[in-house]
Amino acid sequence: MTIRLGDSAPNFQANSSSGNIDFYDYLQNSWGILFSHPADYTPVCTTELGETSKLKSEFDRRNTKVIALSVDEVEDHQNWIKDINETQNTDVEFPIIADKDRKVSELYDFIHPNASATATVRSLVIIDPDKKVRLIITYPASTGRNFTEILRVLDSLQLVDSHKVATPADWVYGDDVVVPPAVSTEEARKIFSKGVIEITPYLRYTPQPDI
Ligand code: BEZ
Repeated sequence: MTIRLGDSAPNFQANSSSGNIDFYDYLQNSWGILFSHPADYTPVCTTELGETSKLKSEFDRRNTKVIALSVDEVEDHQNWIKDINETQNTDVEFPIIADKDRKVSELYDFIHPNASATATVRSLVIIDPDKKVRLIITYPASTGRNFTEILRVLDSLQLVDSHKVATPADWVYGDDVVVPPAVSTEEARKIFSKGVIEITPYLRYTPQPDI
């Protein structure tokens, strides 16, 4: 199945390193990140899961629950977590889905047969509290993800959901934002009390409104 931005994220039940889960029950009303891994006991994935665990307070601050997936068994996941905790100096608390039958991987299009017939690619999906898909990124197995970028996208999505703004290239929390095309400069000057700088009629900046 192909998943696209704006689609409802499919629910599923699966076994995981933390027991059986229902995806929607796990997410409750939080934002969610579902991310797939090529395999257990692999070096890049070990660093990614360690990094995700160390960023727990950053995900908590953004009301975001994370859950990983690979096509190995629960016992492998549990033993691998011991290695991750030891080598990455952390304590992995989020579940890793054991998708041996690839049910979830197929539901979320995590198997790309021309990259690998059997393994999941390094995909990541951000899901909002309405269970809509808001970001999909896919990396090759050999490139570890940049989790600072994932946090940055969460900041952007959460900001644009509550204010009529968009975030420009390389924006990070606290930088000026841009006025989206659907908002006229006249309307923007009424909405944004901190002011609007018009570079061109379509390129307008305003300070981040919620800080
Ligand atoms: C890794 O996760 O380390 C990895 C997996 C497949 C190919 C290369 C690296």
